[in-house]
Amino acid sequence: MIVVTGATGQLGRLVVDGLRAKGANVVAGARDKNADLGVEVRELDYDRPETIGPALAGADQVLLISGNEPGKRVPQHTAVVDAAKLAGVRHLVYTSAPLADTTPLVLAPEHKATEEAIRASGLPFTFLRNGWYHENYLDTIRQGADTGEIVGAAGGGRVASAARQDFADAAVAVLTGTGHENAVYELTGDTAWTFPELAAEIGDVAGRPVAYRDLPAAEFRQFLIDQGTPAEVAGFVAALEQNIADGTLAHTPGDLRTLIGRPTTPIADTIKAVLAA
Ligand SMILES: NC(=O)c1ccc[n+]([C@@H]2O[C@H](COP(=O)([O-])OP(=O)(O)OC[C@H]3O[C@@H](n4cnc5c(N)ncnc54)[C@H](OP(=O)(O)O)[C@@H]3O)[C@@H](O)[C@H]2O)c1
Repeated sequence: MIVVTGATGQLGRLVVDGLRAKGANVVAGARDKNADLGVEVRELDYDRPETIGPALAGADQVLLISGNEPGKRVPQHTAVVDAAKLAGVRHLVYTSAPLADTTPLVLAPEHKATEEAIRASGLPFTFLRNGWYHENYLDTIRQGADTGEIVGAAGGGRVASAARQDFADAAVAVLTGTGHENAVYELTGDTAWTFPELAAEIGDVAGRPVAYRDLPAAEFRQFLIDQGTPAEVAGFVAALEQNIADGTLAHTPGDLRTLIGRPTTPIADTIKAVLAA
């Protein structure tokens, strides 16, 4: 039996659906135990360790989907690792971050610490080091089509993003396949694009010229604040843009394509879907 944590999230739902479609015995772990996910749902709150052990009872495999509150994730994830160890889970799969143990990416330290906790547990693991989702750029795509401009601070940095569905398919492949124990997969899209290229793609689909305006990081942060983004979030996003400018999301090792057995979804498909909606 496979327990998927964070099952009410956008990735979690896709994974649960994918596992069901493959006929796997899947149980959803969620804060809302009344969530309608088409499978048994057990209460599992990362902040309430007493819920985690019962939620993992009988699990052979656990997919730990990283939490979405930066700053809280190490104790949250460690609580799941400890419970998985106690429950005798035979395979713990974790959604990590690109090159988590070596990258300067600002959000990597919590993922690195989680990977270390998993390794220290002695549990057989798989690290799915998920790169950027295309879906991180839904607002950017709409903004480009509406205004003829997208704004950032990534310079000519490249982003090897892929669709959230691609990452979900990779998780399903690992959880329903064999031979993935103690593997570390760097999951990225097949193509690494620049923001000027993204602007051009949006323009092609929208049928209007779309330009990319590159700002220094501090000005980009202020731009986000002026648009209503909280200062703390704006600083984080601007730092991520700097990481992109420095090339931290540009690698395309092909692990995602190999795991899912098909090319990754081009970002043009996501642009078309967003602008058709
Ligand atoms: N690779 C990328 O580009 C990228 C982008 C964004 C995020 N991420 C990471 O990937 C994860 C999955 O992505 P996503 O798109 O599915 O994110 P999401 O839609 O925000 O889902 C996050 C999930 O985490 C759950 N969660 C939050 N706090 C929890 C807690 N205390 N206990 C139990 N569950 C908790 C949420 O539960 P509720 O439904 O109860 O809120 C939700 O199910 C994110 O959480 C984040 O770590 C990656």
